[in-house]
Amino acid sequence: SALETTDVKGIAKYIKSGKCKKISLMLGAGVSTAAGIPDFRSPGTGLYANLARLNLPYPEAVFEINFFRNNPVPFYTLAHELYPGKFRPTLTHAFIRLLSEHSLLRMCFTQNIDTLERRAGVPADKIIEAHGSFATQRCIKCRTPFDDAKMKEMVLKFSEDKVVPRCEKKGCRGLVKPDIVFFGEALPPEFSQSPKIIQRETDLLIVIGTSLTVHPFASLALLCPDECPRALINIDLVGDFGSRDDDVVLLGKCDEVIEELCEELGWKEELMKLWEE
Ligand code: OAD
Repeated sequence: SALETTDVKGIAKYIKSGKCKKISLMLGAGVSTAAGIPDFRSPGTGLYANLARLNLPYPEAVFEINFFRNNPVPFYTLAHELYPGKFRPTLTHAFIRLLSEHSLLRMCFTQNIDTLERRAGVPADKIIEAHGSFATQRCIKCRTPFDDAKMKEMVLKFSEDKVVPRCEKKGCRGLVKPDIVFFGEALPPEFSQSPKIIQRETDLLIVIGTSLTVHPFASLALLCPDECPRALINIDLVGDFGSRDDDVVLLGKCDEVIEELCEELGWKEELMKLWEE
């Protein structure tokens, strides 16, 4: 077995041994809650628990493409609140950058649409935004891209004027939607290389801040070979973690667990420096 002990020390030792050269990460909304962005499913604080005011038939409808086509107002009401720009990367985001600077990051698979991985300085070729992001947008009818600055302005003004962005191509007027993956839409083409990376090019998989409930993303954790250790850093136990000998389950707030791990690695100062940047 690759780990001497299935705890923070065991992971740190494995990383320091030099045998763990490629680390892949799977991230979810829990990584960004410390930045002030709510997650989806935490009882009480999660987005889905706080959507009553939007009059949705059920919470997930706000991210469903067929619902959006008929009524884009609930989505834009939320977009206004979730729009990147006002949020700062967390300590956990700084850790991802640190892994990449130590040439240990194989790939950061994220479900998050907040672009905080990029903003933390993780190189673009080390990130797969499996659910897309708010970085670009286009018409859902003719697929024509829509201007970034104009989009930002309209999203920020939405709470006052309730004007939904529409395609500017002559005669189209289709609804404009950020390039985030809605339920009912395909994942981006980059996602298709994920199984190969997890199955053949990863020495350690770390899953952070996700309920592992949305597929196909969640299934990646199952594709990890038995010989490859998996670590879960999350408030609750999720997925099938704990079912394998080399599973490490670290329950708690991710920033705290990451700090502990970096202490074991002797990276604490470096981490803090990156985070404060
Ligand atoms: P969820 O809200 O489903 O799960 C977040 C997980 O992170 C929960 O298990 C929380 O307990 C945990 N968590 C919250 N704060 C944490 C912290 N500080 N430290 C550690 N853990 C913490 O969010 P996701 O799994 O990302 O899809 O949701 C998956 C997808 O469902 C999203 O990408 C989104 C949503 O519908 C689309 O919009 C397409």
